[in-house]
Amino acid sequence: MPGQLGRRQPAGVGDQQRGVHPCGHPRHVRSLVHDDWARSFLSDHPDTVVLHLGCGLDARVHRIDPPATVDWYDGDYPAVIELRRRFLPPRCHCTLVGADVTDLTWLDRVPRGRPVLVIAKGLVPYLTEKDVHRLLTGVVDAFPTGQIQIDTVPVWAWRTSKWDPALRKYDARFHCGFDVPAALAAWHPRLEYVDEVPMYDAPILRAKAPARIRRLYRVMNLVPGMKRSTRIVRFRFRETPAWPRP
Ligand SMILES: C[S@@+](CC[C@H](N)C(=O)[O-])C[C@H]1O[C@@H](n2cnc3c(N)ncnc32)[C@H](O)[C@@H]1O
Repeated sequence: MPGQLGRRQPAGVGDQQRGVHPCGHPRHVRSLVHDDWARSFLSDHPDTVVLHLGCGLDARVHRIDPPATVDWYDGDYPAVIELRRRFLPPRCHCTLVGADVTDLTWLDRVPRGRPVLVIAKGLVPYLTEKDVHRLLTGVVDAFPTGQIQIDTVPVWAWRTSKWDPALRKYDARFHCGFDVPAALAAWHPRLEYVDEVPMYDAPILRAKAPARIRRLYRVMNLVPGMKRSTRIVRFRFRETPAWPRP
């Protein structure tokens, strides 16, 4: 369905009604960054297995439209996967996995021995640090090589999340935060930190958002802690350890 669902980044209907440019909202910036990183990895590794974790109703597989050599897995809780079945069209080489993604038994259903691309947009803050550790190290142990893309919030945003009105509205709460997400690479000897994009100061936001939105974020970024309050972070791993075991 690339014709209908595969546009690079559709704005939310409400945003379109309010006249917000598709790049004018950080939510869209996060999607654009994840999509661009994913496209680049898939063009270098066309035999990849993609694990799109906490996929929600994101139509990423339709936007990215990977070749048939890529096997794509969309994973979320069973109730969310049921909604995906109702609202999004099926696709060859795309499998829906209804499971708690921190219970790694679902990985048994996934082919091994190929590069893996993990895309987890908006998932990590909702997991505990112990679960994030088990998930990341479990994936690295299961595959020879790969890329892992996640979003993180800092410790202050996690600690104050119980007062965040946007989260309270949905009875949601963050369960972890990282002030230095690059430090997660120390969790596994084969894991390497690559880079990160601060959501509120992403180059694409500065380059493409309308002037009034750019002004708004310039001001917001002056608030201490705001600029780096959500970070989109990329890790890679190879067959050989990035650093020697002690
Ligand atoms: C903020 S939403 C992001 C959805 C989607 N990635 C996006 O960007 O539109 C977080 C998603 O993670 C899912 N999620 C949270 N914890 C999960 C878990 N332990 N196992 C599976 N899915 C989980 C939620 O059901 C939800 O769909």
